[in-house]
Amino acid sequence: ERAPLVLGIESSCDETGVGIARGTTLLTNTVASSMDEHVRFGGVVPEVASRAHVQAIGPAIRAALAEAQVTLDDLDAIAVTAGPGLSGALMVGVSAAKGLAAATGLPLYGVNHLAAHVAVDLVAPDSPGLHTPTIALLVSGGHTEILRIGDIVDDIELLGATIDDAAGEAFDKTARLLGLSYPGGPNISKAAAGILDGTGVPGDPTAVRFPRGLNTAKDLRDPARRYSFSFSGLKTAALRFITAAEARGASADAVRLADVAASFEEAVVDVLVRKTLLACEDTGIDHVLLGGGVAANGRLRERLAERCEAAGVTLRVPPLSLCTDNGAMVAALGAEIVRRGLAPSDPAFGVTSSLE
Ligand code: KG4
Ligand code: ZN
Repeated sequence: ERAPLVLGIESSCDETGVGIARGTTLLTNTVASSMDEHVRFGGVVPEVASRAHVQAIGPAIRAALAEAQVTLDDLDAIAVTAGPGLSGALMVGVSAAKGLAAATGLPLYGVNHLAAHVAVDLVAPDSPGLHTPTIALLVSGGHTEILRIGDIVDDIELLGATIDDAAGEAFDKTARLLGLSYPGGPNISKAAAGILDGTGVPGDPTAVRFPRGLNTAKDLRDPARRYSFSFSGLKTAALRFITAAEARGASADAVRLADVAASFEEAVVDVLVRKTLLACEDTGIDHVLLGGGVAANGRLRERLAERCEAAGVTLRVPPLSLCTDNGAMVAALGAEIVRRGLAPSDPAFGVTSSLE
């Protein structure tokens, strides 16, 4: 018996992704990003993203089929991200998937974007298999969550999320304040490493004491805040710091950009790592999976690895191309759902913009 061949479509944010998997074997993962079009706005503009998806979706599906050397007739099912995400963006992928399903008669599965971020590890080339239960830390430009995954299909619990900006968004907005271009995450990392000022001398992460959101003893005692994040105060603090520094003038004793960037990065990483390990402690789960575009952050990977190691927790980070939004993650989850013989989604399913 052959493993199911599933085409997955992802369009929840600014990436139009189409992936094809045969069981746990990834055949292709094509991604068209509208990132370039959002640069001048300093962030993802929903309307711009939706329009870009409409243009990219057809060619992306064709390219994926061609690359995987399969035809629509070969497929066993279609899977598509139904949410959470930007509704207009989601609708493009869902409509395309419904059209394909109607034309081919293939079963269609609407899947959860967050579950797909975790399921993607099933198709990673170096995958040790998906270990459950696991705690998942998902950090991107659009979302920031800690999840308890008992089972990838039917036991997913949202422990906490950001109550304002996403972690990647905090990087992007603060980078902008620092005069660095979008997307800001990679640039803040470069600045923190002393690459941007050409010195090669890393910034001092203790130079500026930026606030850690929702991290007081009181916050941690409150079940509704224990695993939640808030990054908007950090952004405001960065703005206040920069304004004050500018008022003093760029004197020789001014704090280096590298120091500010390193201190900011440290503040974000601190809470992400701390709360992830708290979730492990509380649940007794000794596995962590990291996903989302912010997984590219070296300091986050380093600190998370250290803390996991010290706590006897196994850390798994899928290859970066699978951490950012893509179609492979949807195909991976779809293939797992089909393998279990589960019924397709109600044909009338819609998109869900928020977290259920
Ligand atoms: O998952 P992703 O590619 O897509 C969206 O969320 O749209 O994540 C992109 C986000 C951006 O906010 C970007 O600034 C952030 O991930 N990012 C980083 C790094 N590389 C990308 N943040 C911190 N450090 C990085 N090295
Ligand atoms: Zn995502």
